[in-house]
Amino acid sequence: MTRITVVGSGFVGMTCAQKCAEQELAEEVVLIDIIEGKPQGIALDLNQAGAVEGYQCRVRGTNEPKDTHGSDLFIVTAGLPRKPGMDRSDLLDVNGKIVNSVADYIQAGSPDTRVIVITNPLDTMVYQMAHRLGFPKERVLGMAGVLDSARMSYFISETLGGGVADIRCMVLGGHGDSMVPMPNFSTVDGVSITALLPEADIEAINHRTRNGGAEIVNLLKTGSAYYAPAAAAVAMAKAIVRDEKRLLPCAAWLNGQYGLKDIYLGVPCVLGARGVERVVELELDESGMKLLHKSAEAIRKDLKILREKQLLPAA
Ligand code: APR
Repeated sequence: MTRITVVGSGFVGMTCAQKCAEQELAEEVVLIDIIEGKPQGIALDLNQAGAVEGYQCRVRGTNEPKDTHGSDLFIVTAGLPRKPGMDRSDLLDVNGKIVNSVADYIQAGSPDTRVIVITNPLDTMVYQMAHRLGFPKERVLGMAGVLDSARMSYFISETLGGGVADIRCMVLGGHGDSMVPMPNFSTVDGVSITALLPEADIEAINHRTRNGGAEIVNLLKTGSAYYAPAAAAVAMAKAIVRDEKRLLPCAAWLNGQYGLKDIYLGVPCVLGARGVERVVELELDESGMKLLHKSAEAIRKDLKILREKQLLPAA
């Protein structure tokens, strides 16, 4: 039986479970949380929705880590979301402990699995997950670039006044203020947006993309975005479980690519059954490369804090 486990049944987790079930990405979707009754209730609701929609996937809600054993893929959303005024890095301590505890049961019961991390601060949490698991790094990756690129695509469609269907964007770097939108690699039906929009508009779109998460946090006041994050993670999950070889920007392990090592960072990747099957190296201009390295520096600062808190062993 194919099994996808979604860890955390909050807003992001339950939306991921819903999308996985509706798209029948596995025969069973396990939804696990530490709150008793919550994943079980959501699972029951989703199974009843399946009776209306006709999807053939069973959702199982549980508080028991052993029920996740033998999963083909994990989507990890467990952790606290940001509140207004909070930076993603403010979540390091509390979410770092949660990620370690989840890694332990993934390692014990699903040694061949692939793991997509959503928990923030994303680039450090995926690093920590990979480190704790000790799995081949290509089987552990983070969701950020697909989401940030989707936000950028939407803002371009708003500015141009058309639909979003033909727009493809590329956002690299960390999932935070230091992310690097790439207008040169962002197109409308193959035409670079630099040929379609004035520089001031592109700058405004880049700025809004960098603040895309905070804009929603400030509007919601309690909690953060979940529809687009879940859509992004499930697109990645689909590319992996169906071995689609899609090129998507993800937080992937770098071992010399872009002149960076020993870090997870947002870069274009080919996703297939093995997880990150290839990191694609774009030819960046000097300023793009500089911004990418600056973004890596911001992540290294958070990794240092994790080491000081002993959530990661010393480098
Ligand atoms: N195991 C399983 N679930 C856990 C654990 C754990 N060890 N610790 C916390 N959780 C659960 C919580 O009980 C809660 O149900 O994770 C869920 C988080 O849900 P929400 O608070 O609704 O947060 P959500 O909006 O889903 O965001 C989750 O994704 O985008 C990121 O920044 C966001 O890090 C946050 C994560």
